[in-house]
Amino acid sequence: MCSIIGYSGDDIAAPIIVKGLRRMEYRGYDSVGVATESNNQIELKKGVGKVEEVNSKVNLEQLPGKIGIGHTRWATHGKVTDANAHPHPSTSGKIAIVHNGIIENFVELKENLKNEGFIFQSDTDSEVIANLLQKNFELSKNVKDAMLKTISELKGHYSFIAMFENGQLAAARFHEPLIIGVGKNNYFLSSDVLGFIEQTDEAIYMDNGNFAIINQDQIQILDFQGNEIKPEITKVSKEFADVYKGDYAHFTLKEISEQPETIFKAGENTKNSIKAVSDYLKHSRNIYLTGSGTSYNASLVAKYLLAKYAKIKSESIISSELQFSPDSIEPNSIVIAISQSGESADVLEAVNIAKKNDCKIISIINSMTSTLSRESDIVIGMNCGPEIGVAATKSFTSQLIILYKIIQELNGDVEIDLDEISSSISKILEEHNNIKKIANALKEISDIYVLGRGIHYPIAIESALKIKELTYIHAEGIAGGELKHGPLALMDDNVFVIIINPEDSTYQDTLTSAREIKARGAKIIGISDKESDAYDYWVKIPKTSELTYPIAETIPIQLLSYYCALEKDTDPDYPRNLAKSVTVK
Ligand code: G6P
Repeated sequence: MCSIIGYSGDDIAAPIIVKGLRRMEYRGYDSVGVATESNNQIELKKGVGKVEEVNSKVNLEQLPGKIGIGHTRWATHGKVTDANAHPHPSTSGKIAIVHNGIIENFVELKENLKNEGFIFQSDTDSEVIANLLQKNFELSKNVKDAMLKTISELKGHYSFIAMFENGQLAAARFHEPLIIGVGKNNYFLSSDVLGFIEQTDEAIYMDNGNFAIINQDQIQILDFQGNEIKPEITKVSKEFADVYKGDYAHFTLKEISEQPETIFKAGENTKNSIKAVSDYLKHSRNIYLTGSGTSYNASLVAKYLLAKYAKIKSESIISSELQFSPDSIEPNSIVIAISQSGESADVLEAVNIAKKNDCKIISIINSMTSTLSRESDIVIGMNCGPEIGVAATKSFTSQLIILYKIIQELNGDVEIDLDEISSSISKILEEHNNIKKIANALKEISDIYVLGRGIHYPIAIESALKIKELTYIHAEGIAGGELKHGPLALMDDNVFVIIINPEDSTYQDTLTSAREIKARGAKIIGISDKESDAYDYWVKIPKTSELTYPIAETIPIQLLSYYCALEKDTDPDYPRNLAKSVTVK
């Protein structure tokens, strides 16, 4: 998703801004740009491509001045072109803006501004902000009033930073993230703490519906009615600065490989919260789980576990779907929101709907300082460290461990052996040569199906998602029993089917499915602790307890997707068109 950044201080702005943009690359983007102010003049450079490419082409870092703004764009309105890249100057060139989000009423605003003589150079919705600010600043000659008037005219979800040619920065937050870093002699504005964490660990988390004005060493925070707000400075955990690949070729591989350790940290130090969650679950009539992407898939596992081990009924709802059926949530219920980033717009919207229905919000989050964290009644931390690879890996297994801990709290007979889980993951990671060979066999394939039953069905869905994200191969998760109700028609010798088949109560039925598929010519990859002649390729997982299997079978698929991405020469860390934090609806 788009990242925005701003700097005002004693140092030359452009190199600091470019560094911040590099650190936020993981959020996903297609173009980049920087604008700075010096001697009451705004200069701007931008282009399509990665920060490194654009910087070496146009020398972003050499822009002069100690005040600046920067942006990485993830296209929503208008193609990926240099002209559509941010920053966008206003018609006079006296104001420049960077924006994350969507201005829903941009068509009418643009039409009106054009009629008044303003000139537009891009197809973006964002450019209206620059021209509206120019218009309102020319009327009021005052940044605060110009911001208040502009904000009152915008509809949609946004965070933006505006730089005025007099060197003032102004930034507004409305349903998109915006954090202020407070240094000794400088201020940073950023979509993510990673944008400034190397410079300062003191931050102001702006509330929704607030804006800030930075005038050299002075900061003022106001709400959208113009009332002044006292800023609250928070210390950000330094752990967030740890975003280097180390010896690994990619963040994705690093994050997959960290799982033998990260699982120990999931839900750590939140024993009381886990107890509180279990008390809520025991006493609530209606329980809903919600999330997007991988986090939604974790909610499907949770639904299964709650029913089987705690005899608690729950419903999983895709976060983006809730707005179309808000009545599917009963008032005064429990809603468990799962989100690695805590910033996914769809999840925040679902939580908003739930809160309007007086629901209690329990969140499972990695980024504890996120918006979702602040919207929740109880928060349980994944604590797995920054996840930079766009496709979720270690956060998924951490989510499962937290869910297991909740189940254990609800049912004392459930045992979770973290040592066993960790050593199973380590053993599978050692299997990487076998998995690399299978990845090579998959590289020309256009369709992969992943089949599982019971608790392995959500894992099949998550596996298909991982394959799609990392390899761009069409993949689909199938509930084993559904094979005969449609998917069997697709089976022929061009297809690979991954069978998730540990030796548990689902084993025999799933093996029968494998044979039925094999009889139609498709190749079978069996993920199992038991070898079978039904498998053309066998990925061995250790024999474990029932709750370890979902994690054990997830690891080979993460590795397979990663190595297949390498075979296909795609970038596993930044898959095309995808973003890590989807902060727009
Ligand atoms: C994006 C990411 C996925 C992630 C999903 C939900 O689509 O690419 O990897 O699963 O968002 O993200 P969240 O931060 O809410 O878990």
